[in-house]
Amino acid sequence: MAEAASARPPSNRTVFTKDLSAPDPMPEAGIEAASRLLRDGRLFRYGEDRDSLPEAALYEEEFAAYLGRRYAVAVNSGGGALFLALKAAGVAPGDEVLVNAFTLAPVPGAIAHAGARPVLVEVDGNYHIDLEDLDRKAAGSGARYLLLSYMRGHIPDMDRLLEVCHRHDLVLIEDCAHTLGAKWDGRLSGTFGTAACFSSQTFKHINSGEGGILATDDPDLAAKAILYSGSYMLYAQHRARPPLEVFERHRYDTPNFSMRMSSLSAALLRPQLAELETRIAAWRRIYDHLAGALNRIDHITVPGRSPKEGFVPSSLQFTLSGLTSERIQAFLEDCDRHGVHIKWFGRAEPVGFTSSHHHWRYLDARQDLPRSEAVLLGLCDLRLPSNLSGEDCETLAAVLRESMAQLAEGPRVS
Ligand SMILES: Cc1ncc(COP(=O)(O)O)c(C=O)c1O
Repeated sequence: MAEAASARPPSNRTVFTKDLSAPDPMPEAGIEAASRLLRDGRLFRYGEDRDSLPEAALYEEEFAAYLGRRYAVAVNSGGGALFLALKAAGVAPGDEVLVNAFTLAPVPGAIAHAGARPVLVEVDGNYHIDLEDLDRKAAGSGARYLLLSYMRGHIPDMDRLLEVCHRHDLVLIEDCAHTLGAKWDGRLSGTFGTAACFSSQTFKHINSGEGGILATDDPDLAAKAILYSGSYMLYAQHRARPPLEVFERHRYDTPNFSMRMSSLSAALLRPQLAELETRIAAWRRIYDHLAGALNRIDHITVPGRSPKEGFVPSSLQFTLSGLTSERIQAFLEDCDRHGVHIKWFGRAEPVGFTSSHHHWRYLDARQDLPRSEAVLLGLCDLRLPSNLSGEDCETLAAVLRESMAQLAEGPRVS
């Protein structure tokens, strides 16, 4: 029997009882592979003088094949992959890197880690990078790199974005932490830039607790990323790697940053990658159901998506408009009391996973972003586990509808 997701307390209000933060369980094949490794004890991805179980090399090979890119390098986190992509693409200390303002803390963090300076680009009401602001800032700043974060899986018009990159000769690095399996006009996200980075932190499309992977077609970038990641000169054991002579060009000049993925993580990820398409279909069904229901509630708008965007919604974003911050806060607290935890990017203080450019005070100059500020002020975020049923979606929407109605009635909340 499916877990019931609703209950009615004495106040006659709907309560959502499923845990929205619960990850999917590991596929049995992952548990078996991980158990084999645990019995063997060789959790380090490289064998020293004999073969180890090559889980990480196989994961890279399968990931590169899935994406249709030549090389992949598995690392310890998505933020680690971003840092390595920037370094391997040639970002030097003091360089400026363009990045959209609506993103998560590890993205400007990766730029800072590389010693570079984030130049924040505005976002529009559909949560995409503002292409006119990008054009302006690319011309004005002299930045040579764009770290494009498909934050919460929102893909901008890539045809226009690539035109801007081309016009300013920008090196594009894609942050695909939320777009594994997503497409623009039939082309997989992660195949547009010089390098693409993915995360397998627990709340992403595939889960190894912590983990990241970098994909590229550039042999020098791939070899440098492998060396930076800490391959102890055992890089020949990689399978989705460039020819060995490419490593000869870099092996004496590339420090070891020790950011490898362990075999255990890779063993858990391989079967999840194989199941991804099934999960994508489930997420799409849930998103379409919920977006329709939420769009019927006063003050809530779930922005429309381009028909070219094949998105993979493991979360749903909506905008609250016509409400003060105090009323938004009261609405979210009421939803919380009735079992639906919603993240809010308009909070004055960084909480949980939500922070914004105001909170990144290490940025060396204050960057005015009036458009992004207005967008973030009403921007809410709901995680979507892939096991939500249609009935769960209705219950969830009922909680939000009732909390909104309660708000309209005045200060009383049940
Ligand atoms: C948009 C975005 N990019 C990158 C990352 C980095 O991933 P990780 O947590 O694996 O470092 C995250 C993490 O949540 C993210 O949300």
